Amino acid sequence: MPLIAPSILAAKLGRLEEEVRLVEAAGADWIHIDVMDGHFVPNLTMGPAIVEAVRAATTLPLDVHLMLTNPLEMVKPFADAGADYISVHREVIEDVESALGHIESFGKKAALVINPGTPVETVSPYLSRAAMILVMSVNPGFAGQGFIESVLPKLERLRELKQRYGSSCLVEVATGIKTSNMGGAPRAGADVVVAGSGVFATPDYRATIAAMKSAT
Ligand code: DX5
Repeated sequence: MPLIAPSILAAKLGRLEEEVRLVEAAGADWIHIDVMDGHFVPNLTMGPAIVEAVRAATTLPLDVHLMLTNPLEMVKPFADAGADYISVHREVIEDVESALGHIESFGKKAALVINPGTPVETVSPYLSRAAMILVMSVNPGFAGQGFIESVLPKLERLRELKQRYGSSCLVEVATGIKTSNMGGAPRAGADVVVAGSGVFATPDYRATIAAMKSAT
């Protein structure tokens, strides 16, 4: 059964604290926070202050996805704000070992992200090193997009390698996932499913999350 990480990018941000408490009560496992700089991706979203606000509203793990051109420059502010997982894009990281070590130096779990068009081989060598691999199933920038089915083989490949090497690295997918198309990603090996509009655009968060967890 996958962990469900609602993305607050799709939440009613004018009532953020209430939305976080509602999804926690509805059975969310993590809170996913999409940080965008308007340069690496064509949208500008939220910073450390929002992470602090979410941190104050819940004890759930905060899963912070840095869609930034220079993510390592921002690790400390997000770590200090209360992030638990900090994910950086492989597309902008030259020295992966150093990047993961930098995130870990703040006591946080370090994750690598790949966009739909980035080969899984760019991160598979780090399955025994990173805490998590986030496989994007939409082109990053906005909630409410369609799930890109062609990423499923990337999830299957990561599962195969994890089994071969005995890796405990988590595999997360984000997303374009709704209750209607939930099964594919966990069946392909996703341990954590991000869901923005798939949760926050529905009338009953508890029913939605329960349906997502039972969909596999
Ligand atoms: C996309 C973000 C995803 C997205 C999820 O750039 O990284 O987390 O917001 O939202 P939905 O589930 O609506 O695609």
